[in-house]
Amino acid sequence: MASEIRNPQLWQDGRLKIDWVRHHMPLLNSLEEEFKASQPFKGLKVALSVHLEAKTAYLCEVLAAGGAEMYVPGSNPLSTQDDVAASLVKAGLEVHAWYDATEEEYNAHIRAALAAGPNIIIDDGGDLVNLIHNEYPHLIDNVIGGCEETTTGILRLISMNKENKLKFPMVLVNDADCKHLFDNRYGTGQSVWDGINRTTNLIVAGKNVVVAGYGWCGKGVAMRAKGLGASVIVTEVDPIKAMEAVMDGFKVMKMTEAAKIGDFFVTVTGCCDVICEDSFMNMKDGAICCNAGHFDVEVDVAKLREIAVESHLARNNIMSYKLSNGNRINVIAEGRLVNLAAGDGHPAEIMDMSFAIQALSALYLVRNRGKLTEKIINVPKEIDHEVATRKLRYWGIEIDSLTEKQKEYLD
Ligand code: NAI
Repeated sequence: MASEIRNPQLWQDGRLKIDWVRHHMPLLNSLEEEFKASQPFKGLKVALSVHLEAKTAYLCEVLAAGGAEMYVPGSNPLSTQDDVAASLVKAGLEVHAWYDATEEEYNAHIRAALAAGPNIIIDDGGDLVNLIHNEYPHLIDNVIGGCEETTTGILRLISMNKENKLKFPMVLVNDADCKHLFDNRYGTGQSVWDGINRTTNLIVAGKNVVVAGYGWCGKGVAMRAKGLGASVIVTEVDPIKAMEAVMDGFKVMKMTEAAKIGDFFVTVTGCCDVICEDSFMNMKDGAICCNAGHFDVEVDVAKLREIAVESHLARNNIMSYKLSNGNRINVIAEGRLVNLAAGDGHPAEIMDMSFAIQALSALYLVRNRGKLTEKIINVPKEIDHEVATRKLRYWGIEIDSLTEKQKEYLD
């Protein structure tokens, strides 16, 4: 099938972006060289649905260098960058994605990638895996396995597996140490504030920032808010995470209480209905809400639209909703993940690690084709260690190794 993108003419801008990140992704550089020589994906079709910006494009090119035939839909209607998509098409990859796709267009793009009959699926949030099981069961036999990038996608896989519905092995990339310890915490921590800052152009210092969810991502978002000079309030549903937030120096309270004092609100829970009508009605005039969780269900924007007496575009990518009490609530990027729908996503050096795990996990699936009996596969420890070891080497950092006596002692 022919590619479906917004504007092929934009390819040069996209190429600049991809070349920029390429220079900051040494792990992928080395894998690209190795794959070029060994061609591990030769003859295999890979469908890859990860937020289509420059780092993802480079991952696609690394897999293509290893012989893969790539089929690339978007992973969120607002995170696709049209220039990057154009650049991949120019490089000969099949892409079905554009920025601001309607729900219908977005689903058609995912379907187009699946229709190719992929052998490997690289998913972010579970849309490809979900759709192939529901609508293309006849294509399942082609699939060697897949890799899942994010926490929410993994929850979906675990629930499918519990019901015996998952039909091929999926590697839980998010759960690798070299992924969530760095990508979710430091990547989300930095890129969420990059997205908020570039979209609002407002000061964070001295403000009250409410972070909903103190998981790996929430810890990063709260830590960086503190670094920017904010007073940070955390909301949680897990008493242990709540206690951790308290001991990390943050205030913890219920969302309905936090709603009264927050200036910025960031949801990052993976759960739905985190900020709802009662919280909107409690918020101060001018409060700014955004979401960094995978789906746009955390800030109840549909309800906000319904109860607003007036709304207007206050600034590019910020909708302002006036409530019956006269207060205006601002929402960035329609409540879609702010670091990608209002920014460029995580820093390149972080995605270098996450995508090295992706590439090595895809390689693991190919090498173990037909041998994996379980459907839910943890990233092997050797892959995690390999990525950390290579990263330290690029940083020029050496660490000690255990002597035989020390190993014996620890045993
Ligand atoms: P996690 O499981 O480590 O943390 C989620 C936290 O939210 C947990 O501590 C949980 O108790 C809490 N929580 C759940 N429901 C809540 C509610 N109603 N109110 C308050 N707290 C609640 O998950 P992680 O890795 O931090 O991921 C969170 C979300 O962010 C997921 O949807 C994930 O897919 C997404 N994600 C987004 C990224 C981005 O670039 N924006 C990057 C990585 C993950």
